[in-house]
Amino acid sequence: MKEIKLIGINGSIRKDSYNRLLLQNIGFLLPDNVKMEIVEIKDVPIYNPDDENILPTIVKDYKEKIRRSDAVIIATPEYNFSFPGVLKNALDWFTRPPNDNVLQHKIAGIVSASSGMLGGSRAQYQLRQVLLYSEMDVLSKPEIFISFADKKFSTGGKIIDETSIKLLNAFISNLVDKINKN
Ligand code: FNR
Repeated sequence: MKEIKLIGINGSIRKDSYNRLLLQNIGFLLPDNVKMEIVEIKDVPIYNPDDENILPTIVKDYKEKIRRSDAVIIATPEYNFSFPGVLKNALDWFTRPPNDNVLQHKIAGIVSASSGMLGGSRAQYQLRQVLLYSEMDVLSKPEIFISFADKKFSTGGKIIDETSIKLLNAFISNLVDKINKN
């Protein structure tokens, strides 16, 4: 079977981030031929158009990883009904300069975890809008909103909610199908 490479982008820079746990749990559920590397955006500098012709090393590295991947999974928290500024900042870098937008035509899956009852859905819809302009090829279904995230993981960080695990397996299966049909 074809080896598939995924890049997981964690939209939270928090030490005990549920979105990082969510990405890690997706990693545990992946079939043997699919590998995922999680990248952290904490050290991505603030985007400034003046700097985009000489990209910061971390941005260059992450763009290369995305370019070489078959798809990207973005995990986002919800901050004030939207996705965090640090994530927008990183995505802006990845689309620049305009003749080297590594998100363009790249397959993507979006997931979110939030301590609230809607699981980050409002953040995801705003993120989808941004990815539309970036021309990412975003998986539509199933949507993964991990609500009440503080109750969905064990102390060891394993997802313990059966409904969420079922949905995550369907998400992985649809994402892999989309990659294979590409
Ligand atoms: C939040 N949180 C939150 N949750 C939600 O469901 N809707 C919201 O609008 C917000 N707004 C919000 C704003 C700010 C500034 C913070 C810090 C938090 C709660 C948030 O989803 C929760 O802290 C998650 O745990 C964040 O994700 P990580 O860091 O655990 O991955």
